[in-house]
Amino acid sequence: MVRPRRLRTTPALRRMVAETRVAPAQLILPAFVVEDLDSPREISTLPGQFQHTTESIKRLAEEAAEAGIGGIDLFGVPSRKDEIGSEAWNPEGILNAGIAAVRDAVGDDLVVCADTCLDEFTSHGHCGALTDDGRVDNDATLPLYAAMAVSQARAGAHMVSPSGMMDGQVAVIREALDAEGFTDVSILAYSAKYASAFFGPFREAVACSLHGDRKAYQQDPANRREGMRETLLDLAEGADLVMVKPASHYLDVLADVAAQVDVPVAAYQVSGEYAMLEAAAAQGWIDRQRCILESLTSIARAGADVILSYWAVEAAGWLRADY
Ligand code: PBG
Repeated sequence: MVRPRRLRTTPALRRMVAETRVAPAQLILPAFVVEDLDSPREISTLPGQFQHTTESIKRLAEEAAEAGIGGIDLFGVPSRKDEIGSEAWNPEGILNAGIAAVRDAVGDDLVVCADTCLDEFTSHGHCGALTDDGRVDNDATLPLYAAMAVSQARAGAHMVSPSGMMDGQVAVIREALDAEGFTDVSILAYSAKYASAFFGPFREAVACSLHGDRKAYQQDPANRREGMRETLLDLAEGADLVMVKPASHYLDVLADVAAQVDVPVAAYQVSGEYAMLEAAAAQGWIDRQRCILESLTSIARAGADVILSYWAVEAAGWLRADY
């Protein structure tokens, strides 16, 4: 009889024939650096994750490098916000200070990546400048992203990651980086990014002041083909890696992208994915470690080469023991 179960008999056999493996090197840890903070502060919507000072973020980055993960993706929370988010490209601004501190601590041992978006920096919480009637002005936002990306490269970022979903953002960032001599700084493009309610817990992490939603610039969760269209546009504009976000509820989009592009594909396991699982685990309703590992494996199985996850460092410890 044909018996597929034969290959499931022992742990060694199962490990040998596993089609998908997640390695620590594939993981990127998103992390938050906050201005005017005396000591790390736990984020209530993301238990186990912290807002960091420029000092504590260094230690986190060192820990991440020791754990063998691939990179760290930095988000900054400034004390001063304004209409256009001008702290974002201030060389001494909190995000650039965080990038410099982390780069100083880890050198090239970790890929230092920076979020290139204005929502943490604007008084209204939108990802770009607004028109007089309150809509996000795509073309007026592009030069702001370019200035932000260049300042991040100057602070020491290996990689910038535009996440604002403005049309044309990758092209202007590439052009600006090249013009300033940062030809080796790569662009991780948030290509298929959906207007997702699963970003909810993140909003506390970055003290976001948004009222309303981002549906006029982020994608409609109903649209699968459009994820491919956005991804191909980013590639044509010069993206070095592309990303699908969120991850778990968008594995179809991720599989499409992975099948059709020839660059590394990333997926972002977002705050809501983290919070849901942590909440259920805290109730004792699910096996926390197994669910975390299963979720990471499933994202990799769908086609992600790189996974952004708040569990990156913790999971790396388990994965190292595993392989
Ligand atoms: C925008 C940005 C967001 C996230 C990452 N970059 C929030 C948003 O688009 O509303 C969400 C990440 C998460 O939920 O973990 N700069």
